[in-house]
Amino acid sequence: MAYSQILGTGSYLPEKILTNADLEKIVDTSTEWIVERTGIHQRHIAAEHETALTMAEKAAKQAMSDANITANDIGMIIIATTTPEKMFPSTACLLQQRLGISGCPAFDLNSTACAGFMYALSIADLYVKQGIIKNALVIGSEVMSRVVDWSDRATCILFGDGAGAVIIGASQQPGILSTHLHADGTHKDVLSLTVSIGKPMDVEEALYIKMTGNQLFKLAVNILGDLFDETLEANSLTKADIDWLVPHQANIRIIQAMAKKLNLPLDRVAITLEDQGNTSSASIPLALDKAIRDGRIKRGEMLLLEGFGGGLAWGSALIRY
Ligand code: UT7
Repeated sequence: MAYSQILGTGSYLPEKILTNADLEKIVDTSTEWIVERTGIHQRHIAAEHETALTMAEKAAKQAMSDANITANDIGMIIIATTTPEKMFPSTACLLQQRLGISGCPAFDLNSTACAGFMYALSIADLYVKQGIIKNALVIGSEVMSRVVDWSDRATCILFGDGAGAVIIGASQQPGILSTHLHADGTHKDVLSLTVSIGKPMDVEEALYIKMTGNQLFKLAVNILGDLFDETLEANSLTKADIDWLVPHQANIRIIQAMAKKLNLPLDRVAITLEDQGNTSSASIPLALDKAIRDGRIKRGEMLLLEGFGGGLAWGSALIRY
């Protein structure tokens, strides 16, 4: 089996920023509550003309340029998004057309929510390692601002829009060491966005994210702790071998608990939550791209990526970057 590695990364954030002070004018909340309970100070909000596709395209082009490849070198496109342009054709197919290529597999992962990027990365990694394809374009792109209920203070303060992309390619040296995916449908009601295609639905009930935040918080902390143990054991490594945690950006208190679990200081955690909020499946590639671009994450370092979200679904990757 061949090796796979992250060859390049890219990102896109909409220009418009929504601060906590702005939210105080929309719902009954306060900057103090939001910062203390979540760690979020602001989030980016897509302009009317921006979609998961337009943002994915911008992030993808930056990642391709970073990896020094052209569209013709791409052997697979996966877009993790809970906010696609349409049910089908997939956002990935629409992007493929915009990139001027055809033939390679292209599909969306719509239902793995905030864990979507981990699922997409895992699939791309296996295709590259099996030698079936040489390079894969893996993207998380979300316009969460279009699926939050702007009258629900418990959820509308959390989410933001944006896209992150990575190019996974064949490599001479071990890069992505392992990926680990899980799901547990018994927790299906904790976080949902119901858009029922096959049966009648109550439209009022259906279109917004519903979340039991405190229950999800506890589940996340337990699940991620076990996931770290599993990931390290699979590679016969210990916490001391990890240089960077690149987590899903849901809540600073969850991130702090996870850093503590790994004995990592917070300056060894890629955090974008303060400025970007929770961008669902885009949050991990956005955090990764930022920490690589500003020179904090360096080649050769050991990265632990983790994501969790509705389903529940969760996953990790261990990467010698
Ligand atoms: O990306 C998918 C994964 N997502 C997550 O993992 C989210 C995990 N959960 C969380 O991040 C936290 O649970 C939240 C930030 C969503 C909520 O924080 P919490 O500390 O768990 O608050 P809570 O839901 O237990 O609510 C505590 C109080 C309630 O008031 P009462 O009933 O105690 O009077 C809420 O009504 O805080 C109130 N509250 C707010 N107050 C001011 C809820 N939202 C707000 C708000 N501003 N925006």
